[in-house]
Amino acid sequence: MDKASLIYPMFLVDGENVREEISSMPGQYRYSTDRMGEKLEELSDAGVSSVMFFGIPKQKDELGSMAYAEDGVVQRAFRKAKREYPNLYLIGDVCMCEYTSHGHCGVLCGQDVDNDKTLAYLAKTAVSQVQAGADMVAPSDMMDGRVAAIRTALDQKGFYHTPIMAYSAKFASAFYGPFRDAAESAPAFGDRKTYQMDFHNRREAFKEVCLDVEEGADIVMVKPAMAYGDLIREIKDGVKVPVASYSVSGEYSMVKAAAASGYIEEESVMCELAASAYRAGTDLYITYFAKELAGCMDAGKIG
Ligand code: PBG
Repeated sequence: MDKASLIYPMFLVDGENVREEISSMPGQYRYSTDRMGEKLEELSDAGVSSVMFFGIPKQKDELGSMAYAEDGVVQRAFRKAKREYPNLYLIGDVCMCEYTSHGHCGVLCGQDVDNDKTLAYLAKTAVSQVQAGADMVAPSDMMDGRVAAIRTALDQKGFYHTPIMAYSAKFASAFYGPFRDAAESAPAFGDRKTYQMDFHNRREAFKEVCLDVEEGADIVMVKPAMAYGDLIREIKDGVKVPVASYSVSGEYSMVKAAAASGYIEEESVMCELAASAYRAGTDLYITYFAKELAGCMDAGKIG
């Protein structure tokens, strides 16, 4: 476990002078780009050098057009962060659900998400993030074929060296509840079970990971982390690329809520959960507790 392996997910909103607490995630905030520096400085002071940006635009539409707009919130954030914090490693979450009016992770055909039609939009989004300054892109949509589509599009623009961290084994999970509140991205109808995975299914997780590696994923991810340690281990043992795991919003909020009620001790549980992910085999750990964990690593409480 070391600080270099921590990734902090951050929510960026349109507007100015915004730093608003996310009600379902105490201690986590949405920032406008003019104030994101406060958090980025805190993180780099703590020794956390990687951040992943999620954009939450004011205007959402059917085709999620602010996901790939040159002046989209996340594109502006990348340009500013690249200029002002050149030592940070910037990762772009690539998905449509934060940008579509219907809240699904792809474009629709009737009441269904159209997998193949979505690929072009995801590729466009990835390219626009990298053009704006993203060092790596992380597709979280779970459409089939998106890693290959993104790789091809990046290569065509000359971004041969920009890696892809694929959310490969991403489950349809109730642990994402607080995130959807934070990103205002709950689907307006239906659910995500046609593209995210069934949590009963171990073998499918491995299959999805192998497909992503074949398509060119440089890092694969298991998500959520807690309750999925068996899969982190299986995938770590089975593929030759680094494995990331994402300790998602629900994991964070459960710890916060239980600690606030006095039922558990926050720091100890946070450390124990992180250690379990690393023990399972995670190489990179995406967590809302990144700064606090870095502090515990410095203090020798975990390592
Ligand atoms: C977007 C996305 C989600 C998360 C990361 N990327 C939400 C979802 O799939 O509904 C969840 C992260 C978290 O819960 O912290 N597709």
